[in-house]
Amino acid sequence: MSSFSQFPLARLRRLRQNGGLRRLVRQTTLTPADFIYPMFIRHGQNVRQEVSSMPGVYQQSVDTLPAEAAELRSLGIPAVMLFGLPAEKDPVGRENFAPDGIVQQAIRALRQADPDLVIMTDVCLCEYTDHGHCGLVEDGQILNDPTLEILGQVAVSHARAGATMVGPSAMMDGQVAAIRRALDEAGFPQIPIMAYSAKFASGFYGPFREAADSPPQFGDRSTYQMDPANNREAMREIALDVAEGADIIMVKPALPYLDIIRQARDTFPDLPLAAYNVSGEYSMLKAAARLGWLDEKRVALESLTAIKRAGADMILTYWAKDAARWLD
Ligand code: PBG
Repeated sequence: MSSFSQFPLARLRRLRQNGGLRRLVRQTTLTPADFIYPMFIRHGQNVRQEVSSMPGVYQQSVDTLPAEAAELRSLGIPAVMLFGLPAEKDPVGRENFAPDGIVQQAIRALRQADPDLVIMTDVCLCEYTDHGHCGLVEDGQILNDPTLEILGQVAVSHARAGATMVGPSAMMDGQVAAIRRALDEAGFPQIPIMAYSAKFASGFYGPFREAADSPPQFGDRSTYQMDPANNREAMREIALDVAEGADIIMVKPALPYLDIIRQARDTFPDLPLAAYNVSGEYSMLKAAARLGWLDEKRVALESLTAIKRAGADMILTYWAKDAARWLD
């Protein structure tokens, strides 16, 4: 250390004296272009039903989507992630890959409203199956390989409807390879895959399961989602997804897993990295803000900045629209 690095020569407060200086030396900045807005689409007309555990988040019908697309565009948010609530659930989740399924309808409506919108879709089974698991079930077991075929069909049906990108989140082994192959064979080699690579079995998904009506009807997801205790395994998951053809990798949840985001950024410097600021991360700050215990705008922007500082290039967040307004 040179003497210059020590007090009184070094006074780090010099560069904190006013807002202009602080902006000049700021390392991490958020822009609306960093955000992917998750949306829950359901059947019906003119439906906009607030999720009780996620104030400001709605289940909404397809006819409300053109207005959403216009709003997202005016806010500068480039992308959405779609989740569907089917009319009926069954063991396989047939509406998931039906040409006029709820997500397929939503894709078409959004695509028509805005040709530039990045329409990402969640490719998983849990919202569509009556057992609520992310794979096919036999004798209480979640089957891996038979599920891959369904995931491929779902991805292809989303691509046919006009999706920009698919996001497999089922945590089945080999799912990225299976989807890549299915897309290529169906004539969609240009559709990228954003892999939910390091997806942990997290209690922070609780409010989402109300929003998407997708709780498992027996057991939990710990035979397929990752153990929160493991970071080396997270790097293996990501490496496998990259080898299988993932174009963008993801860590999920975000705030309790900033170390995983940082490690992923350092281990895979050449891939775009997404982080999912999940439902529980949103709900707990919302709840505290409602009680007057936290300043929502401040803690939300601080959280999003922290996720980006940890190494994420893009963030899936329920605050996307609010944050874009706050940053304006
Ligand atoms: C579907 C899926 C889940 C989330 C995204 N995709 C739920 C789960 O795995 O149980 C969670 C998102 C959130 O909590 O905001 N598999």
